Amino acid sequence: MNHGAWIWRNGELVPWEEATEHVSAHVFHYGSSVFEGLRAYATPRGPAVFRLRPHTQRMVNSCKIARIALPYSAEQLDEAILELLRANGHEACYIRPLTYRGTGQIGVEGRGAKVETVIFSFDWGAYLGSEAIEQGVDVQISTWRRFSPGTLPGMAKIGGQYINSQFITMEAADNGFAEGIALGHSGNISEGAGENIFVVLDGEVYTTGAGASILMGVTRASALTILDDLGYRVRYEDIPREMLYIADEVFFTGTAAEITPVRSVDRIPIGSGSRGPVTEQVQQRFFGITNGTLEDPYGWLTYIQP
Ligand SMILES: Cc1ncc(COP(=O)(O)O)c(C=O)c1O
Repeated sequence: MNHGAWIWRNGELVPWEEATEHVSAHVFHYGSSVFEGLRAYATPRGPAVFRLRPHTQRMVNSCKIARIALPYSAEQLDEAILELLRANGHEACYIRPLTYRGTGQIGVEGRGAKVETVIFSFDWGAYLGSEAIEQGVDVQISTWRRFSPGTLPGMAKIGGQYINSQFITMEAADNGFAEGIALGHSGNISEGAGENIFVVLDGEVYTTGAGASILMGVTRASALTILDDLGYRVRYEDIPREMLYIADEVFFTGTAAEITPVRSVDRIPIGSGSRGPVTEQVQQRFFGITNGTLEDPYGWLTYIQP
């Protein structure tokens, strides 16, 4: 991992090597953390963070759901991220804010443990491979389901919940697929292990809603804005598995995956078996804004050097 030299920890910058934690920390035993994932992109005006506030606000919201007493506001997290990126000097990077229950209580309940907050940054290219952005990825429907609403809170980005995503990605990798898609509790599509899903069928665009146990993705929200501007009406519906098989296009959205076409599901080619026109239009607008070659009409970029 090509990481930045500094880590922001509880309000201070410390060298990467020094940001360690004791083995008795609550988080190691019970997954009691909340995290975020953001990207900063290289632009002609220097590096810029994509959709800073929606991510820091989701972190605050996730902590509220997890009942982790995060001692920072979204605004303070924004400042912390910018301070870290100025110190680390990346042209482009992935940013990982994390808050967790540390030492002080080993019992499951955990609210007696000290809350620690860190932010670190590292270089990270296209998550599903740079070819994937043009060619698309081959995915499977996982045998693992997304957890149901009465089991875990899908809207919160809680560390322990990612055991579910790990099972999905490990199974997909073992079967030779780039990614796995989980069905939800109803048997309909929920989302990828780390991506939301869009489907284009007969000129209509569909995506799953909050009731499908999804993480409400920031990239999903961005794609919805772009689709709206492009004149597509998006329908929020239950998406049965077989709808993917007969779709004209399927694409993933996510901070890591960005906008990635899906070219096959369970080895069934989607549409023409390559990137479709709606996906391409969304990508063009998305990447044009993130690399600074298109105007940013929505104010999605926060420049590291003001
Ligand atoms: C489970 C899951 N779903 C969806 C997403 C996409 O969310 P975003 O676009 O905010 O990165 C992510 C990534 O954070 C994720 O981990």
